[in-house]
Amino acid sequence: MMHKSSCLLFVVFVLFWACTTNKKTSADERINRKIDSLMALMTREEKIGQLNLPSAGQFTTGQAENSDIARKIERGEVGGLFNIKSVEAIREMQRIAVEKSRLKIPLIFGMDVVHGYETTFPIPLALSCTWDIPLIEQTARIAAQEASADGINWTFSPMVDLCRDPRWGRIAEGSGEDPFLGSEIAKAMVRGYQGTDLSAPNTVLACVKHFALYGASESGRDYNTVDMSLHRMYNEYLPPYKAAVEAGVGSVMTSFNEINGIPATANPWLLTDVLRKQWHFNGFVVSDYTGVSEMVDHGFGTLPEVTAKALMAGVDMDMVSEAFLQYLPQLLKEGKVSEARIDEACRLVLKAKFQLGLFDDPYRYCNSQRAKTEIFTAENRSVARRAAAESFVLLKNEKSILPLQKKGTIALIGPMADAAENMTGTWSVAARHSESVTVLQGLKRAAGSNARILYAKGSNLDEDPAFEERATMFGKSLRRDNRPAEVIRREALQIARQADVIVAALGESAEMTGESASRTQLTIPEIQRDLLNELLKTGKPVVLLLFTGRPLVLTEEYQQVPAILNVWFGGSEAGDAIADVLFGDVNPGGKLTVTFPRNEGQIPIYYAHKNTGRPLEQGKWFSKFRSNYLDVPNEPLFPFGYGLSYTRFTYDNFRLDKTDIRMNDTLKVYVDVTNTGEREGTEVVQLYIRDKIASVTRPVKELKGFQRVTLKPSEKKTIVFNLNREHLSFYNDKLQWVCEPGAFDVMVGGNSHDVLVKSFTVLPE
Ligand code: BGC
Repeated sequence: MMHKSSCLLFVVFVLFWACTTNKKTSADERINRKIDSLMALMTREEKIGQLNLPSAGQFTTGQAENSDIARKIERGEVGGLFNIKSVEAIREMQRIAVEKSRLKIPLIFGMDVVHGYETTFPIPLALSCTWDIPLIEQTARIAAQEASADGINWTFSPMVDLCRDPRWGRIAEGSGEDPFLGSEIAKAMVRGYQGTDLSAPNTVLACVKHFALYGASESGRDYNTVDMSLHRMYNEYLPPYKAAVEAGVGSVMTSFNEINGIPATANPWLLTDVLRKQWHFNGFVVSDYTGVSEMVDHGFGTLPEVTAKALMAGVDMDMVSEAFLQYLPQLLKEGKVSEARIDEACRLVLKAKFQLGLFDDPYRYCNSQRAKTEIFTAENRSVARRAAAESFVLLKNEKSILPLQKKGTIALIGPMADAAENMTGTWSVAARHSESVTVLQGLKRAAGSNARILYAKGSNLDEDPAFEERATMFGKSLRRDNRPAEVIRREALQIARQADVIVAALGESAEMTGESASRTQLTIPEIQRDLLNELLKTGKPVVLLLFTGRPLVLTEEYQQVPAILNVWFGGSEAGDAIADVLFGDVNPGGKLTVTFPRNEGQIPIYYAHKNTGRPLEQGKWFSKFRSNYLDVPNEPLFPFGYGLSYTRFTYDNFRLDKTDIRMNDTLKVYVDVTNTGEREGTEVVQLYIRDKIASVTRPVKELKGFQRVTLKPSEKKTIVFNLNREHLSFYNDKLQWVCEPGAFDVMVGGNSHDVLVKSFTVLPE
């Protein structure tokens, strides 16, 4: 029987629910009615105009008025613009739309605000290594605040493409290899960008991308073919997109790749059956940049044909191709597309504009006062500094070389050491590159007069100037030194010999990852490795400060260098954050969200693999007729979830509250984590499960929970996880979401490899 007070609570809850649902419905209805009246006034051409998203290019104030784009806006041929920055430029375009076009429909303004706006946070892959969901949400919140203060109301983020192939340069833009963590991050980013009220002037519409499976492009080559079983899609690659939709993301961007023979941008199964019918997505779908016209090269039809296919499959807005604008009127006359579909697409775009409040005030996001006071603020930058420090992953620390002491002489050597433009990493279109804090600045500032910091470049990024040019685009020059390599190196060695400790800032440049930045050899460029070897030969302790946007092959470095701190691309404040961690003012706690292979031949390599019928016995390198390699062990160099700290954590007293559970029960999992070192530190406690027997084979481990815990020296905490039916379910061969009775393992640990294991059974219902 229900207790009186719970009865009352229940009634209050129902009333509250009814009120909020009604509120929402009536807001939706109000918007729908407004859209109805507006659409009744629109010509077909004006409706099609709303589906066109050209790139603006950058105008200086006063120029926009006379541009081609301005003429198109006047004619009602533009729904939104992107690649435009500043309140003045945006205000000018918006003014043309609302003063000169017949129906005065405001434009939506998009941008790739991917990891921050002018205040830049670590690249998304790095940010995911914090495993700090509230912090990640906060970075998206700040990005939205800054972007919206500068006229932007739509961001092309979050990018949630799961990736298990580090050859693919865009691995830097996502959250790594895991669907569970990827989904948590996708939701947090959508919440951060959109807040609870899209019409608030400091929130922006999010756009989850790239739908779908872009991260599985064959051989890691960008834009390449994807061919994947439905089983793998549903269980592994689709969950983060679905999570973003469930979090209420307002728009979805299609991906460049084809999926099982059909390009994603004209894939009715993907865009209509999965996205609309199964997931109930009710925002709008935008193509990627020229994604519509590129389908001609895919061999999927002539330009008019692919245009019709894209629209009818479910694309609502055409980014840059201008194919909708050009061909839809004729295609409509020929009966190759339906009026209903054009109306539906137009409705969805208009709905977003109503939700953003642009019909109430088209200049809602054009407040020059906000642009002056809310961007790149000290407060925002301090969050970026903290986020950067949290994202660093300590890969090795022999004899506790780190943290460094603020005394003596430190030689900072390497092409990444004094390279402001390189700090923010890929997709940092709004960043103030020259104002990013370099490692040299950060170390000097932190050391003050207590330690001497010497610097030399030591080498270029790469021996080949043509490669270096390709890898330093978008103003991210590393200022190539044209002296002979020998001379540059010798100069650095002289400086290194004067020091007590050497910090070698080496690795990839910012544009060695990101779009169209795939690699087949994943080592640090050879010229830098030569430099590192020479530095090691000095006999001084060497710390490798690794810059990278992807897992690199570090097998040699791991053997030879006593300490490796992976700092990715940490954003505008990275230099200070690096100093914080190198000197121990902040204890590193980042954990890898993607596996680091021993060599390129192991790729794709990921922790949640299947077992095969001939698994290799644990601890072995090779057994004949088992699933393994002759030349390297199966194990990666660094597993998913791995990362060290300046302190140590032990796990014990691992226990479950029961060993048999019914399907709808919750299993409580407990483990005691103790800080057994000398410093306070943060550990990411990870929980994995294994479904041991199922109707379809299941991975050997799957992440199902994680908690960050900060412990003082000797402090112990009991960590509690609740495992329920959702965690134990998967898509079966009929793509039904099921939990099957039987034996499970549950594992906890500080990375995916070193875990404690217990078993339990799920009883039949
Ligand atoms: C990228 C997208 C991006 C778009 C707009 C494309 O090349 O694939 O991720 O949002 O450009 O800049």
